[in-house]
Amino acid sequence: MSDPVMENSWLAGLNAADLAPSEVASIRLLDQDIVVWRSEDGSLQAASDRCPHRGTKLSLGEVRGSQLMCPYHGWMFDGDGNCTYRPAHPAGRVREGCLRAFATCERYGVVWVCLGDPPVEPDWFQEFDESGYQSVNSAPRLVHASGPRIIENFLDMAHFPFVHPGSLGAEPQTEVRDYSVTVTEGGVEAVDCVFWQPASGPTAVDGGDVEYTYRVAHPFVATLTKWPVDGAPNFSIMLVASPVDEVSCRAWMISAFSESLDAGSFHDFNEAVFDEDVPILESQRPQRIPLDPAAEMHQRADKLSAAYRQYLQALGLTYGVLPALPR
Ligand code: FES
Ligand SMILES: [Fe+2]
Repeated sequence: MSDPVMENSWLAGLNAADLAPSEVASIRLLDQDIVVWRSEDGSLQAASDRCPHRGTKLSLGEVRGSQLMCPYHGWMFDGDGNCTYRPAHPAGRVREGCLRAFATCERYGVVWVCLGDPPVEPDWFQEFDESGYQSVNSAPRLVHASGPRIIENFLDMAHFPFVHPGSLGAEPQTEVRDYSVTVTEGGVEAVDCVFWQPASGPTAVDGGDVEYTYRVAHPFVATLTKWPVDGAPNFSIMLVASPVDEVSCRAWMISAFSESLDAGSFHDFNEAVFDEDVPILESQRPQRIPLDPAAEMHQRADKLSAAYRQYLQALGLTYGVLPALPR
């Protein structure tokens, strides 16, 4: 199903470190097979992963210079989708535009791909660029849930004591205190989100109130910044959901945190938390998030979730959601 909102957005494709010069990757975005390759000089190219000659997956081919060679009969394609060479007919002319080529960019250690008209490059994660901070990208994992279900879970505090007992929450400290939500120019932001946690981060030993700020500036991307109680510096996480199809994503986290923290334990802590979320996410029905407020019940703690759903509705998103019908 095509959705102009998604087609004209940057979609997370893969971690940039997983694509070295002259390497090829196959990904699936919005129900389409996409080949991404990195030229010898490091530049990125993306195109439809289907050879126009006999339908072979181009991602089985190899990079020659800046071009991709089909594994079957050796046709060569440049990053603009032109077929520049057919070995069976060495004197043949260039065939222009025979392959759909897509825009790419590299930001936050992620290769982003746009299947339509690319907007300005991603600028959703200021903390990533702060001095004194290091970053780690987790590995993409396939989650059988729609992007909006995955993002909404990331914005939800009320589940902490039940899904993450002992780390992000613990009974009986279950209350979600009031917090502020603002609809910003490009999305949604929540501040003063305070919650009691038994272990607020990888170095925490005592429980206490922690504070979060949440931001959404893309339907399938959210960031949080968290201030632990143990005097440790704040840290930030960006969650990206890369839409394989309407009801499954490859999801992963890009974390920015103080150089004083150990990257390995930080990564492992966040992965363990996400391990606990996945069975919940994969159990939710309907898989496409319903944007009609009457379709599911709500509680006061869902203020951010409600604002996120309104944001999706205002964007006109149809992919991975059940749009609210006009009343
Ligand atoms: S199928 Fe790709 S060159 Fe023939
Ligand atoms: Fe969670």
